[in-house]
Amino acid sequence: MSKQSKSSRITVPQIRARKGGEKIVCLTAYTTPVAELLDPHCDLLLIGDSVGMVLHGLPGPVGVTLDMMILHAQAVMRGSEHALVVVDLPFGSYERGPDQAFKSASKILRKTGCPAVKVEASEGVAESIAFLVSRGIPVMGHIGLRPQAMNVEGGFKAKGRTADERGRILAEARAVDAAGAFAILVEGVTPDLAAEITASVSVPTIGIGASNVCDGQILVTDDMLGLFYWTPKFVRRYGDMRGLIEKAVTQYADDVRSGAFPDERETYKLGPKPGP
Ligand code: KIV
Repeated sequence: MSKQSKSSRITVPQIRARKGGEKIVCLTAYTTPVAELLDPHCDLLLIGDSVGMVLHGLPGPVGVTLDMMILHAQAVMRGSEHALVVVDLPFGSYERGPDQAFKSASKILRKTGCPAVKVEASEGVAESIAFLVSRGIPVMGHIGLRPQAMNVEGGFKAKGRTADERGRILAEARAVDAAGAFAILVEGVTPDLAAEITASVSVPTIGIGASNVCDGQILVTDDMLGLFYWTPKFVRRYGDMRGLIEKAVTQYADDVRSGAFPDERETYKLGPKPGP
């Protein structure tokens, strides 16, 4: 039996089949140790291009490259065996059209072993989604607040507050669904729009800042753990990792300065090693 056929990872069809059923639990991951911790609890792990802001100190996703995504996706694949792993196509790697999108997405699949990609579905991208799906690359669409459009939008702005915008986003959702995406990530929209999208598409919606009407939820892990310096309104903080790190590092610095660390417990002894 090949390694592939023994895999117990959740598959794309299994996620698609969860429409209207058991809620889909998703988080972002960028490294092996964090993936190991999240994997048993999650249905889907996303290597989001939020990695640029969260781990690399960038102001947004625009500076993230395909090589960065591949490196982090390889790390997450090494740390997971259960969740479906999905990788963001970064800014500049797919917008020219289906050929460019296929080149980038197939490179990710080949180099990482991840089975699926996510794309921000601006106007015209549905054509690329259909092209990828028809050539064997599962795609999750991303609609609503699209972080890669931050320079056009003047920041990260919630969507769906005007009738015009609602109509446009609903049309994008339907186009992404018709193009064959296996799920649609809906970011930063009003609850009524999230509900309308969820009711209008045939595949699961995964919400972030889109209320609990979606078929699943995703958060940026560092946000929900309280590791990132800023917490968006829609994030619930399930931990205070910044506080924990601050406390631990303050204690360590005090102990080094006072000579309290290391003491005999952390020091090798002279003579033969004690027996078992
Ligand atoms: O890049 C990212 O982390 C995302 C979030 C919306 C989950 O796409």
